[in-house]
Amino acid sequence: MVGTLRFAHPTNLPPPCRFLPAACSGPSRPSLKCRRMLTLRPYMSTDFDALYAISLATADAGADASRLYHDKHLVGAIYSAPYATLDPDLVVVAADEEGVGGFVLGAVDTVSWEERLERSWWPQLRWRYPAPDPEARGGWTPDQRRISMIHNPERAPIQVAREFPAHLHLNLLPRLQGRGVGTRLFHAWLRLANARGASAIHARINRANARAMAFWSRMGFRPITLPELSEGRTVWMGRS
Ligand SMILES: CC(C)(COP(=O)(O)OP(=O)(O)OC[C@H]1O[C@@H](n2cnc3c(N)ncnc32)[C@H](O)[C@@H]1OP(=O)(O)O)[C@@H](O)C(=O)NCCC(=O)NCCS
Repeated sequence: MVGTLRFAHPTNLPPPCRFLPAACSGPSRPSLKCRRMLTLRPYMSTDFDALYAISLATADAGADASRLYHDKHLVGAIYSAPYATLDPDLVVVAADEEGVGGFVLGAVDTVSWEERLERSWWPQLRWRYPAPDPEARGGWTPDQRRISMIHNPERAPIQVAREFPAHLHLNLLPRLQGRGVGTRLFHAWLRLANARGASAIHARINRANARAMAFWSRMGFRPITLPELSEGRTVWMGRS
């Protein structure tokens, strides 16, 4: 707690809040695991490595992807590090006594965010990770597929970005899942995003991640059905 007080809170983010996860409340006596205290607080630069680790630990349709990647930083370099670097005030983390185990982050205007990444994020990574040979695409390793994404980032379809301009990512390590932490992180992020004028939001979900789809549905997101969106591995969901 003391550490968090050294940092100014972004506008509208409540002070760090400590709570017992929802699964612990109720008439039955909580288990030892359940008594774990949790803090939601603004991101600090010392959380950077944890963001990479959480990204990797949830990158296989919500499950651990560490066995798939040789370079353990590639997933985070795409999905979490740019947000923490370029817009840290819009990042909230969940921490327990084992450390940071979850985050929510995003952007209020997806189109301008993607332009900003082109200017300020992808160039350094493209220099560091040369593009894989397109002729060998069929045999690319998972690392090479992610590196290809760095060179050719998948942009949100323009119809999605117009109708639901904001977007977010929310990831928890298994020890924090299924205990109401995602719900609380989402609402903490929503307050920050609303204070910056966000209204409609979208999330990009791997179709194989049934738990995530159930979660976003519960948070008020609905599948975006546009003729332009193919039946690919990505499901786009929006909330207005
Ligand atoms: C998906 C995720 C963010 C959900 O967060 P969470 O803290 O586990 O979810 P909550 O406990 O707040 O649950 C909220 C609602 O989500 C749904 N939900 C959560 N876990 C679920 C599961 N295993 N199966 C079905 N629905 C589930 C339920 O509707 C639940 O509401 P209820 O408890 O009233 O039934 C979290 O599990 C996670 O980070 N998973 C790995 C990474 C990931 O997949 N991120 C999303 C990428 S798009």
